[in-house]
Amino acid sequence: MEIILRNIHKQGYSPDISSYITEGGYKALEQSLEVKPGHLLSEIKLSKLVGRGGAAFPTGLKWELAHNAEEYPKYVVCNADEGEPGTFKDRIIMERDPHLLLEAMAICGRIIGSTQGIIYIRGEYFDAYEILKKAILDAEKRKFLGRNILGSDFSFNIRLYRGAGAYVCGEETALLDSLEGKKGQSRVKPPFPTFTGYEDKPTALNNVETLSNIPEIVLKGGEWFSKIGSPLSPGTKLYCLSGNIHKPGVYELPTGTPLSELLGKYGGGVEGKLKAVLPGGVSSSFLTDRELSVNMDYPSVAKAGSALGSGAVIVINDTHCMVDIAKRCTEFFAHESCGMCTPCREGTKRAKEMLTGITQGSGELSSLELLRDMRKVMYDTSRCGLGQSALNAVVSAIEKFRDEFEEHIAAKKCNLGICSG
Ligand SMILES: Cc1cc2nc3c(=O)[nH]c(=O)nc-3n(C[C@H](O)[C@H](O)[C@H](O)COP(=O)(O)O)c2cc1C
Ligand code: SF4
Repeated sequence: MEIILRNIHKQGYSPDISSYITEGGYKALEQSLEVKPGHLLSEIKLSKLVGRGGAAFPTGLKWELAHNAEEYPKYVVCNADEGEPGTFKDRIIMERDPHLLLEAMAICGRIIGSTQGIIYIRGEYFDAYEILKKAILDAEKRKFLGRNILGSDFSFNIRLYRGAGAYVCGEETALLDSLEGKKGQSRVKPPFPTFTGYEDKPTALNNVETLSNIPEIVLKGGEWFSKIGSPLSPGTKLYCLSGNIHKPGVYELPTGTPLSELLGKYGGGVEGKLKAVLPGGVSSSFLTDRELSVNMDYPSVAKAGSALGSGAVIVINDTHCMVDIAKRCTEFFAHESCGMCTPCREGTKRAKEMLTGITQGSGELSSLELLRDMRKVMYDTSRCGLGQSALNAVVSAIEKFRDEFEEHIAAKKCNLGICSG
């Protein structure tokens, strides 16, 4: 069952507008112009679609808040920053089916009452940027974008903005500051972007994958979508499989597909013996072979003690040392912390120092408890999700592989002979 990759997987399909139109593309936009925005909004709410960028916020509710806001202009912002390590699904959509995203953004504009869309795209996505640039021009030529779309009174433009490579700029409020030309640092919430977004105006900000569901929901109805996959977070999900897996790649499956099925049936099985899996990138907590039956939807993964996030499923086999993996996670966060709040700025650095110490033979057992306490403090006091989740992977590694950490500290070296130090 594919909603988002349905075109991409057809033989001979290209990112050109003609391919998209042949497959029924822009029909949903055409249909949207014939009905009231309120009707479209009801369908999105009925679909129970939740955001695919990580926070799983209900899209219909977000758009209702932006729709009801009385200030103008309003904006549709697409989060195409895709900075979470192990995530590469949005790139596939933008490179292979760019009009799907453009059509979805125009429909969102119609629903919330916006005439301006902006795609904030990861700076390193050179091909996707060029493909989207051409797609926007082609859509304008065919009157799917621009003034008076398809002869209607609805106008909608889309422009592209390239990020400069900071992970934190994927956080929605840091993204908005970056878009406004400021240093990319998160804002205090509330107020939320639906009221005070880009240039302090009402803004619907969504992930590429979230938006890409919209044309099919408009054509087939919210109820149709709500019956796919898990009832609590229905639809499909793009899972990015990477690491020690035979067939890495992007797989679109109904939400709630068991992790074991994703790894075995679709990923072709683990290379070697499974040690751990991060189901939602480095911001999530490790699962082990005891949790392989978990259904891959937002509530179920949360219940299993981790997070689905953007769907970056990173597989780790027993040739890896968990102390080394934990250390690498802290290196990433220490590098990417924007430095604005003390718990995150200092916490990520201290965690990196402690884990580097353990890998180099100078670590202390007390660090393991200290890291657990630091995670709580950082979760409670950091301003944005980066600091709040920076030690999830580390602390879950300590909890589930404590022997490995203790042996490492006692022997003052890596028993597996892996740690780089
Ligand atoms: C540090 C950090 C990085 C994030 N990076 C991304 C990203 O690259 N892409 C994305 O869509 N959401 C990212 N998010 C989540 C966004 O803040 C926001 O929840 C999302 O874009 C909203 O869209 P959605 O409701 O469609 O998921 C990130 C959040 C945090 C805390
Ligand atoms: S939590 Fe970290 S990344 Fe987020 S605002 Fe604070 S210092 Fe910056």
